[in-house]
Amino acid sequence: MTGHPVFAALYDRMNGAAEREIFAPLRARLLADLPGVVLDVGAGTGANLPHFRAATRVHAVEPDPAMRTRLTAKLDQAAVPVDVTAAPAETLPFADAAVDAVVFTLVLCSVADQAKTLAEARRVLKPGGRLAVLEHVRNTGGHARWQRLATPLCIWLAGGCHPNRDTPTAIEQAGFTFEEREILDPLPKIVPTRPWLYATASVR
Ligand SMILES: C[S@@+](CC[C@H](N)C(=O)[O-])C[C@H]1O[C@@H](n2cnc3c(N)ncnc32)[C@H](O)[C@@H]1O
Repeated sequence: MTGHPVFAALYDRMNGAAEREIFAPLRARLLADLPGVVLDVGAGTGANLPHFRAATRVHAVEPDPAMRTRLTAKLDQAAVPVDVTAAPAETLPFADAAVDAVVFTLVLCSVADQAKTLAEARRVLKPGGRLAVLEHVRNTGGHARWQRLATPLCIWLAGGCHPNRDTPTAIEQAGFTFEEREILDPLPKIVPTRPWLYATASVR
């Protein structure tokens, strides 16, 4: 993968205030209690790293070399052991039923194939394991039309991000049942990457 070096270089600065004020508390709530072996898929520059508290091991999976460089430089921000793997979400180099939780934060908008990615998450999760999700998703009405128009620009500017994906439906179609499911809308109305899905799910 050649990756997106400019997006990777700007990512932390671009998110700055929103990350501190809005997203970091949501990440903390989603991730702090995840137990055992956790897979952070599309770990990016490592924004989730400080928030894992209960995990015994985090495998941070990231295919983009420019993101991976930044991720690796931040490993000392984690309170739990973390290793980094270069792989795409669609073909995870982990055995069946190997992990207790799979995390997707702002990744299901960007993967090449959502259905394959979610099938892989299901494959590597132990029975009863948890999917933890924080993703912007397709809206309704006029804003959905704006998301559709803005999609080519978002793909170009934001490393392949699609603001108009119906991620909740894709998660259910992959065989997961939601345990917690909230739609949050903390960003300004004009932003195409809203609203946000905060959810946990498992296979029953
Ligand atoms: C918007 S960033 C989010 C990074 C991080 N998860 C976060 O919450 O800040 C999207 C990330 O997904 C990664 N990504 C894109 N396509 C992917 C794929 N097919 N498999 C795994 N990761 C992918 C990108 O390289 C990038 O690091």
